[in-house]
Amino acid sequence: MFSVTCVAPVNIALIKYWGKRNEDLILPINDSVSMTLRTDELCAETTITASESFYSNKMWLNGEEVPFEENTRILRCLNEVHRLAICAGSQKIPLSWKIHVKSFNNFPTAAGLASSAAGYACLVYSLACLYGIPVNDQLTTVARQGSGSACRSLYGGFVQWHRGNLDSGCDSVAKQVVSSKFWPNMHLIILVVNDQRKNTGSTLGMQRSVQTSQLIQHRADKVVPERVNQLKTAIHKHDFDTFAKITMKDSNQFHAIAMDTYPPCVYMNETSHSIVSFVHDFNELMGSSLIAYTFDAGPNACLYVLEENIPKLIYAINKAFPNDEESADYLRGIPLSNLDIQ
Ligand code: PMV
Repeated sequence: MFSVTCVAPVNIALIKYWGKRNEDLILPINDSVSMTLRTDELCAETTITASESFYSNKMWLNGEEVPFEENTRILRCLNEVHRLAICAGSQKIPLSWKIHVKSFNNFPTAAGLASSAAGYACLVYSLACLYGIPVNDQLTTVARQGSGSACRSLYGGFVQWHRGNLDSGCDSVAKQVVSSKFWPNMHLIILVVNDQRKNTGSTLGMQRSVQTSQLIQHRADKVVPERVNQLKTAIHKHDFDTFAKITMKDSNQFHAIAMDTYPPCVYMNETSHSIVSFVHDFNELMGSSLIAYTFDAGPNACLYVLEENIPKLIYAINKAFPNDEESADYLRGIPLSNLDIQ
């Protein structure tokens, strides 16, 4: 019997992946860029045990058994890792042994907090450790086939997923832009607006957007390539103001496309929109963009902020969104400039 346990963190996109050109291989229509959180933050933890005595492959997610053999994405990840093990000549354990996978998320699943990214990255990374194959760009093509954004969680720091041009998908890989040490005071604060499952999953949402949105191709062809370059330059220069503006514009464009989809995919709610206004008011008051919001396929706000600005941000959040409902209602609509932020 062999067993491995690994953790993989969530990554949150700054330039969003939205839309596939090949549903089967999960090939995107545009590049995306994200930041991977640290391994002690929002994470998936997976233990895989392989044994000669297991009769079938099985999987448990947060303690509940989930179908394995019926799940084409999980099967594909396993088959691809087997293929890489054969290519690498690795004979660490026999490929015929069945496996048991136990995975836990330390945060709400499918609430737009990139749980599938961490989950599939962790599954593929654990499989690679189990079968003794290297973690490299090629392995990101396997994670990609579990859940697109998972390929970015195999690396830390800022990561770019290149859409690639080949039909085979072998050039649709994730690569690290810089490690997390490059911008160590960069933080992410997540405001959990709602931790329930999202109503339109990303697979269906993307499918619908590609079929019906008139804006999506324009974004992929004309907007994203330039934005990716500008964002990478901002990261390399530690230019937070530009980083923030690009991130917020890209989140807004992704949700505009979600709304341009027919029927529309509505991911943000009223509270999400109040957070957007709050961030713009805060930045205006501070004289430059000190906070950047971004929203995935759900209402929760991810706020990028430099460490030195966290106290100001927390103070302002507590003022603008106080815990007790009565003062929250009263304060909503009062400009931040009247709230005396230090
Ligand atoms: O990888 P998926 O299928 O969970 O899609 C992720 C889509 C977004 O989170 C909205 C954007 C992104 O790039 O992560």
